[in-house]
Amino acid sequence: MIGSRKKQEEAGKQLDRSRLPRHVAIILDGNGRWAQKRSLPRTAGHLSGAENFRTIANYCKALGISYLTVYAFSTENWNRPASEVSAIMGLLDRYLREAIRDMVRDQNRLVVFGDLTPLSPETRKLIEETRDLDKQIQGFQANLCINYGGRDEILRAARRYAQEVREGRENDITAEEFSEYMYTAGLPDPDLIIRPGGELRLSNFLLWQCAYSELYFTDVLWPDFTTAEMDKALLAFQNRDRRYGGIHGVGGSEV
Ligand code: FPP
Repeated sequence: MIGSRKKQEEAGKQLDRSRLPRHVAIILDGNGRWAQKRSLPRTAGHLSGAENFRTIANYCKALGISYLTVYAFSTENWNRPASEVSAIMGLLDRYLREAIRDMVRDQNRLVVFGDLTPLSPETRKLIEETRDLDKQIQGFQANLCINYGGRDEILRAARRYAQEVREGRENDITAEEFSEYMYTAGLPDPDLIIRPGGELRLSNFLLWQCAYSELYFTDVLWPDFTTAEMDKALLAFQNRDRRYGGIHGVGGSEV
């Protein structure tokens, strides 16, 4: 235990602050198991997960990472028991209310990605309020994916583009231009995608944007994913050789 804490502290010390990712994305997985291990209801895991999101977002901001995107509720998560869905939505509402209170003061942008139509009028109203405030803020940006699915995002983009072509737009789009139809329009693609909770898949998260993302998987459950775990993920990222299909040292970024 002491050995592993030491290793984690080492990771923090070895981090090169000048080569951090600009955009980190995280799949918040393992809340349910975290709670079950403690004989708590699954919703206690989501509460702890939501609190941890705040901790890790603050940490990313303090490090100088510009964008943090998290997968909080997928298009498939509606299949969970109604009581769990409603507990997660309650936590999201609470988080949004707190963000609305603090975002201008702290200069934290909060953007919600996803199909918001099935959300409650209250949740949608809160999201609307964050959008209004967002215009006054330039700073660290957290993106919350709610009722989000990567395939759904690409389909919606394709439908919008097809409609524009029908209306006379030239049919010659590049990948860069198509990116502007995504929720992440204007943002760099995630440099690093982290999945805690032990599963080795992306589960329909940022499918368009992940083309050249570095992937980091860990068995640690999301509520246990501390700032020291974040340091480990960032250090792993800094030890990767990003070639973007090229040859090491020729083109692309050295990071
Ligand atoms: C996955 O863990 C987590 C979710 C489906 C919900 C995540 C939602 C929150 C943390 C609450 C609101 C979030 C924010 C950012 C305010 P799981 O339930 O699938 O865990 P398991 O795999 O251990 O069962």
